[in-house]
Amino acid sequence: KPIYVLSGPNLNLLGVREPEIYGKATLDDVRKLCEQRAAALGRTVVFHQSNHEGQLIDWVQEARTEASALVINPAAYGHTSIALLDALKMLDIPIVECHLSNPAAREAFRRETYVSLAATGLVSGFGAQSYVLAIEAAAGQSA
Ligand code: DQA
Repeated sequence: KPIYVLSGPNLNLLGVREPEIYGKATLDDVRKLCEQRAAALGRTVVFHQSNHEGQLIDWVQEARTEASALVINPAAYGHTSIALLDALKMLDIPIVECHLSNPAAREAFRRETYVSLAATGLVSGFGAQSYVLAIEAAAGQSA
């Protein structure tokens, strides 16, 4: 089964959005990096982004049966969404939380992420490479 890679709100504008924090790579660049790394590991990815909480929850629920592992950059919903946490808690597959920046080194309101309560592990602070490292972790934790 594929590795699901989900990205939350405002990440569609990656490359344009605060590039000094999030880098110059676009989300399409990130998708290609993920696909390349997954292919090198003999795996495939299903890559989605949405600005809508409910859509992300629908994909998390889909991942219950359709994915071997989940990589999720919940963006700001990580800090706010109990609904997303509840959906993640229903998964029996590895969950890798991923952030481009290092939220722990930023504003206090970014220090807590609900998603971390359900995640197997976390990669943050490496820009687009955070996703690549998260794919490696997800692949290593699943078959
Ligand atoms: C982010 C960090 C979050 O705090 C922020 O709300 C984002 C992006 C990151 O990838 O660094 O939208 O998840």
